[in-house]
Amino acid sequence: MSEVKAVILVGGEGTRLRPLTSSVPKPMVPVLNKPFLQHVFKHLSNHGIRDIILALCYLPDNIQSYFGDGSDFGINLTYVVEDFPLGTAGAVKNVSQYIDSTFLVLNGDVYTDLDLTSMVAFHKEKGAKATIALTPVEDPSAYGVVDADADGRVKRFIEKPKREEAPSNMINAGTYVLEPDVLAHVEPQKFCMFERFLFPLLLETGQAVYAYPSDAYWIDIGTPDNYAKINLDLLSGETQADDSVDVHSSAKITGPVLFGSNCVVEADVVIEGPVVIGSGCIIKSGSFVRRAIIWPDTHLDSWTTIKDCVVGMGCRIEANACVVDGTVLGSDVVIGDSCHLSGGVRIDCGKSIDPDTTLKR
Ligand code: GTP
Repeated sequence: MSEVKAVILVGGEGTRLRPLTSSVPKPMVPVLNKPFLQHVFKHLSNHGIRDIILALCYLPDNIQSYFGDGSDFGINLTYVVEDFPLGTAGAVKNVSQYIDSTFLVLNGDVYTDLDLTSMVAFHKEKGAKATIALTPVEDPSAYGVVDADADGRVKRFIEKPKREEAPSNMINAGTYVLEPDVLAHVEPQKFCMFERFLFPLLLETGQAVYAYPSDAYWIDIGTPDNYAKINLDLLSGETQADDSVDVHSSAKITGPVLFGSNCVVEADVVIEGPVVIGSGCIIKSGSFVRRAIIWPDTHLDSWTTIKDCVVGMGCRIEANACVVDGTVLGSDVVIGDSCHLSGGVRIDCGKSIDPDTTLKR
């Protein structure tokens, strides 16, 4: 299905993931030490999809300068930058000059191993105008629930239903197969959402909208908990470190732990995986790290404890400090010695916390 192009929506501000997204757009946050978007590209390539259009708005340069024309990643990238946020359907309308046949739309913050080849085949077999991938969730009340008949034809959409009133737990998974003519209903340069406007309109006008349920792995990386979860879920097997990583012989590492290049792990450090550590990190003697994501160039001084949290780029955690229990640090944060941060506290980029401070959300 090499003729199918994909549009990836990567223009959102990622407010729920702040402060991690204050300086890095959500598609570029590292997952297993690579920008998240690179994992999405790999999934598309695995299904023969190499022509990819990125609909950008927030911090576009960051994405364009890293991926260029895509050739280093085996794909062909086209970028379209919005002057202001156009919403999910508005953003796709804005790239319509590059689309002339059945195409895919992907939310740029979803990771899934959905069988895209089968989904496109299903869409064509049904003669659908739009096919929406569905995924089961435990509690659908925060999502858009899609109600379909036995043949897969969508009957109605229910936005954020009460749990007991939801007809099913199958929600819109943010992956669509569309025919180009559905975009005729979207006004150019106007904010417009698929979920609230275009899909309901297609139903009202009697057009064939189908649901494609699957139990493929699916996660929206848009919250710190889910961002940590995808890293930890994808990490498996042995500890991985290249020759540039310097681990003291007395350090105790139980995997899986992934190290970027040029990390230093000093004496008596204990690291209990799953843990992801970016390049250039220094972990000084006696520190303890468990279930954490640490971005590049962060320094942990001696006897620090880092547990169940995400630490941004270039942070410094001073001696004896304890950063645990869902804490999220933006980039270039300094945590003074003997501080204790817990309970999902979030510290903005560039902030310094005085020694001996206790913070709990
Ligand atoms: P939050 O602010 O945390 O809700 O994140 P978000 O706005 O980045 O994400 P949301 O879940 O609302 O959007 C789903 C996907 O659509 C994400 O990949 C966004 O990047 C993308 N998106 C949302 N709004 C726009 C937009 O106006 N333009 C473009 N190009 N993409 C968008």
